[in-house]
Formats: sequence, structure tokens, C-alpha cells
Amino acid sequence: MTQNVLVVDFGAQYAQLIARRVREAHVYSEIVQSTISADEVRAKAPAAIILSGGPKSVYEVPAPSLDPAIYELGIPVLGICYGAQLMALQLGGDVANTGIGEYGRTTMTRQGPSVLMDEWPASVTCWMSHGDAIATAPEGFVVTGSSPEGPVAVMEDVIRRLHAVQFHPEVAHTERGQDLLANFLHHIAEIPPTWTNTSIIEDQVTAIRAQVGTEKVLCALSGGVDSAVAAALVTKAVGHQLTCVFVDTGLMRRDEGRQIEETFTRQFGVELIHVKAQDRFFDALAGVTDPEVKRKIIGELFIREFETVARELGKGGDGPRFLVQGTLYPDVIESGSGHAANIKSHHNVGGLPEDLSFDLVEPLRNLFKDEVRHVGEELGLPEEIVWRQPFPGPGLGVRIVGEVTRERAEILRNADYVVVDEIKKAGLYRELWQSFAVLPAVRTVGVMGDGRTYAYPIIIRAVTSDDAMTADWARLPYDVIEKIANRLIREVEGVNRVALDVTSKPPGTIEWE
Ligand code: XMP
Repeated sequence: MTQNVLVVDFGAQYAQLIARRVREAHVYSEIVQSTISADEVRAKAPAAIILSGGPKSVYEVPAPSLDPAIYELGIPVLGICYGAQLMALQLGGDVANTGIGEYGRTTMTRQGPSVLMDEWPASVTCWMSHGDAIATAPEGFVVTGSSPEGPVAVMEDVIRRLHAVQFHPEVAHTERGQDLLANFLHHIAEIPPTWTNTSIIEDQVTAIRAQVGTEKVLCALSGGVDSAVAAALVTKAVGHQLTCVFVDTGLMRRDEGRQIEETFTRQFGVELIHVKAQDRFFDALAGVTDPEVKRKIIGELFIREFETVARELGKGGDGPRFLVQGTLYPDVIESGSGHAANIKSHHNVGGLPEDLSFDLVEPLRNLFKDEVRHVGEELGLPEEIVWRQPFPGPGLGVRIVGEVTRERAEILRNADYVVVDEIKKAGLYRELWQSFAVLPAVRTVGVMGDGRTYAYPIIIRAVTSDDAMTADWARLPYDVIEKIANRLIREVEGVNRVALDVTSKPPGTIEWE
């Protein structure tokens, strides 16, 4: 059985990062809220517990706390930053509100032998972010590290297997941070590193088989990574019971449909229904310029197309009972966490009507995006699908500023291909969060050869980001911009001008609509 580490969330973004780092050490981790009781923890039987950092001071009222009986369960605990201070306070130590604090790079000096920092140099650079500081460690703890403003930067009670660090081992700026987490997990908590892509796939295949039995399963493929990996997992588990549906809205990227068809039909041998719905989408969008109205039309029509296929398959009574969804772990955490400030607005199309009443199969529910990509690679999905940048549900529809027409969609699709092709050739594709073309529905005057042209401009949009909540415009090299611009004018009929978007988010959004 997979051993589990609980990451207790004290309201910080850091909890997710910690959970990911634990998994990078090949140990499964799950985020839980700080209100969890010792009984609930016992029921989950974790092999270790990590207390995350948080934005509050332990002295604020109210500040999140922890059921102190958790320390008595005999489960190894690692407290980080806020979690470290809380542990110190709850176990009888002293936390001082010095008013000085440490933020950013700090030097941590070792104070004698330490299980956590086995074989580390005498001092390391680590990342701090704290106002309060542990002044006195509780009884039973040995102080094994200190920093200029943190006399107790690391404290350890090896008998009770309770450890705490004031710095953030999960951030990349902390030297040997991953090493510290691995030491805690593998040596202190004695958890073997068995959480791998292969084990994830095996576990999911078993779970899917157990869930669906001999029933039929339906999956909507969007061209994106999540639905493709989810479908590939279900294929491995119960391929002959699976039907995939790909609705071509006419607003997809170039080759998206072909790649999906090739992968799922030829490579995996899955039954794929390719709905060519372009005409219906363009008809429905005629004359519409408002972005939100466009989104609504595209979303509703997508559902209607999908519904038609599902009902058709259900005729005769033995239609699919299960529907595959590519829900990821961050969505699961965000919808259950209650930390409203962190919630990203999900404006996906593809939400299905309730009266279709499927049971959901969600094989990616426990996975982060990077894990999904690695699982996809392991399952044999092509690189183009696995490493594809995010694409909005309404597709090119929200990248044509103004009315969506067949002609504009075709121009934009060709332009988008050129932008992405050059970005890939420059080796920048995976570094960028998104890179694409935008077509504003205005025409400008140009001159080509001997003649005057009157055609569309294309805007190059490329951003770096971690999560799409904020983004910075990418500083593309001039020669890459130049190549893109030349090819756009030369190769894409209907384009005579190229501009570069240098707006970050905020104040802009990533998409233009
Ligand atoms: P914005 O433009 O709000 O985009 O900065 C943030 C992220 O969300 C994607 N996006 C969408 N995704 N349906 C989606 O499924 C939508 O209507 C939609 N609008 C924006 C966008 O591509 C970026 O990754």
C-alpha cells in the first residue's frame, strides 16, 4: 500500500509546494486542513506529517492552531516556518515577537550533529520569511541550527521524532532544501521512495477497473494534456469499454484533431467519435462580438454536441454509465479548502448538464500537473500532446477580438502555428507558460511588392507564469521575434503587420478577451 504523508495547510501557498516536493522525493502526499483532529489523523494512518508555513503570527487572534494530541501519536512531524513556531509554542517553548524578522536569503549556521541536516556544511543559505522567531526550544528538543535573527532555526527531538525548521526547505533558494525533506521522509520517517510514475499508473489502472467493472465509459477529449492523459489511463485499464468524443469546434489549434485521432485511434486502438461541428459553431457565433457571450455560446454548443453523441450511444439502453474527467489535485484542494483568496476562477467550457447523470471517473484527482505530464509520457502519449501549453476552452474564439468568422479563424490558426513553431525552434516552448497569436478584427494598410495591402495585424503574445494568476510578458530574443514576424507576413495570407504585446498580468490578462 502507498504510504501517505499529510501536509497540514496553514493557509499558505507553500502547502501545495511542499506536497509537490514530497512527491518529488517519491513519497505520496496529501494536503489537509489545520482543523484536522488527532482521531482523523489516526484514521488516515500517515507515515509522517508536515506542518506548512502560513501568513499569520502565532499570536494573532484568531490564528490557526493544531490539535496538540497529534504530537502524541508517535508519527514523525516536521514543522516548517509557522508550523515550526506553532510546534514550539504548543510543546512548551517560547516564540518571541521581536519585530525584526528575516525575509529572503539568510545564512543558517549548524549547531552540532543533526539527523535532518546529515553531512551538510557548517553553514548554508536558506530562504526565510518570518516576523516572529522561536526563542527557546521546548524541553526534549536540541537546537541544531541558528540564523542571525533566529536563535532556534532548527530544533529536533529525535526520541519523539519531532523536528522543526524556521526556513523554507521547499523553495528552490534554500540550498539542500530538497535534501532536508528527503532526509526527513526516508531516514527519519523511514518511508521508502516508491511513489513513481509506474506505481501511479498501476494504482490507477486497478482503481479504474474496480470502479467501472464491465460498464461502458465515455470521455471527451479536448486536445489538452489533462483529458488526453485521463483517457490514456482509462484506455490502459478498460480500453475496449471506452469511447472517446472529440468535438471539433473549428476553433482548435492546427493539427489538434489529427494528433488526437492518430494517437487514440491508431496507437491506442480506442473507439473515437470525431464530431465535425465547425459549421454549427461558426453559424452560432455570427455577428457576436462580446467576449462573454462568445464564451457562453461556445460552451453551450459544446455541451449540446456532446449530449447528442451520449444520447445516441445510450439508445437501446446499454450506453456508457461512466464519464472520464481530467480533474487535477489543485482543483480538488481549492474547492475544499475554504481559503477564498487562493481560488482561481474556473471558466472552463465542457461542464456537462446534470440530467446526463454519469458517474465520474477522475483518475488524475490526486495528481499535480507536472505529474500528469510525466504519467502521460510513460503511457506513450506524443510529446506534442503531453507538453502542450494551456489552451482556453473557447479556443481561438477568444483570441479573435471581434466577430469570429471562418476566415479569421483560419488566418489565426495559421498565424498561431508560425508563432509556436518558431518558439519551439528557439527552444523556448516549455519555458513559456503560453505563447500564441491574437487577431484583432481590424485591418491596416500596408505595402507589399508594388501594391497596397489592407489586411489583419497579428499580435504576438508570450508570457511566463507559474499558475496563470499573474504573468509577465516574455522577453523573447529580437531574432526570434524577427523570424516570427517575417514568416507571419510571408506565409500567412491575410496578415500584413505584426505587433508584440508587452503587457503583464495584472494589469492585462493573458488572453485578449
Ligand atoms: P486570463 O486571460 O484570464 O487567463 O489571464 C488565465 C488562464 O486561463 C485561460 N483561459 C481560459 N480557459 N476557458 C478556459 O478553459 C476560458 O474561457 C478561458 N479564458 C482564459 C487562459 O488561456 C490562461 O491560461
